[in-house]
Amino acid sequence: MKILVTGGAGFIGSAVVRLAVARGHEVVNLDALTYAANPENVVSVADSPLYRFEQADIRDRAALDRVLETHRPDAIMHLAAESHVDRSIDGPGAFIETNVTGTYNLLEAARSWWLAQDRPEGFRFHHISTDEVFGSLGEEGQFTETTPYDPRSPYSASKAASDHLVRAWHETYGLPVVLTNCSNNYGPFHFPEKLVPVVILNALRGLPIPVYGDGGNVRDWLYVEDHADALLLVLEKGRLGRSYNIGGENEVKNIDLVRTICAEMDRLRPDAAPHNRLIKFVTDRPGHDRRYAIDPIRIRTELGWRPSVTIEEGLRRTVEWYLDNENWWSPLLSRQGVGERLGKA
Ligand SMILES: NC(=O)c1ccc[n+]([C@@H]2O[C@H](COP(=O)([O-])OP(=O)(O)OC[C@H]3O[C@@H](n4cnc5c(N)ncnc54)[C@H](O)[C@@H]3O)[C@@H](O)[C@H]2O)c1
Repeated sequence: MKILVTGGAGFIGSAVVRLAVARGHEVVNLDALTYAANPENVVSVADSPLYRFEQADIRDRAALDRVLETHRPDAIMHLAAESHVDRSIDGPGAFIETNVTGTYNLLEAARSWWLAQDRPEGFRFHHISTDEVFGSLGEEGQFTETTPYDPRSPYSASKAASDHLVRAWHETYGLPVVLTNCSNNYGPFHFPEKLVPVVILNALRGLPIPVYGDGGNVRDWLYVEDHADALLLVLEKGRLGRSYNIGGENEVKNIDLVRTICAEMDRLRPDAAPHNRLIKFVTDRPGHDRRYAIDPIRIRTELGWRPSVTIEEGLRRTVEWYLDNENWWSPLLSRQGVGERLGKA
């Protein structure tokens, strides 16, 4: 299959690109190369005859038409987005432009292309979204695919809007779409402004490790390579017009996640005193969702998918990867906003 992956130079998109090429798919990676991108993320496939790169912005409709016409993909996997909640609090405009208007452009470009090809039956538009569209849970319950949308940050609101557009393009125009809503990912190539890499890199450098609020916020952590595997499965086997929740079956409080990473650092890079001495509780993020949890029944029963990497194993692999790949993360620390406290509103 020839797959056009948007956002393939980012964290999850690059995992999809690497896995798809490894499985013999042709991949066209369309990415604007924003601050969050890194061409190094796909260097392992850059010389493959199965791989092509197109620097293009999903806000640019003409560029999307050109890429589709040039490469003639069988499917689109749409991951390009502004993805950092804290940045969405400081500057929501970019999130509306890329996540909402950009998705609209891509839907329209895909629809024109699909119509011009006489509606090929196998064509798929796979929209990759987040569990954050469902809002915040209390102590009990899980998000199912029918949980009402209740986004509470500019980021999650923009993703929710894009999900609605994708469903509307299916219902109104018949565009063959599938959607996925996934929980928090972690793993190699994670941009160093997100929680897991921040903890690892601050612990490594003896810097304070910021924990928002009381650290009691719960996330359902999924190893990024498991997510990429689930995404390719949904692309190939998911039912048209349907959405699938993807979770890690690993609910963990932020403070416990941070302590586990510190313990891993104690093991791999012992310091004079335990790394958890660096933990510093800081003012909470405004509107910080308390708990996310995924009910994974649909993807498990319909498609037979379950995550394969436990949180302990995934964190061990991730910490080792950051310790072994300073050349990857070191240049990213000087990018705008990295290492600063963003999103205090
Ligand atoms: N990270 C998570 O835990 C998580 C969980 C569930 C869903 N998601 C979703 O998965 C997708 C990928 O997330 P990520 O964490 O890899 O994000 P990321 O920020 O690491 O990567 C986003 C990529 O999109 C590109 N991009 C941004 N704006 C663009 C534009 N206008 N045109 C073209 N390319 C553009 C960037 O250059 C970057 O390479 C997003 O849609 C996100 O909402 C993420």
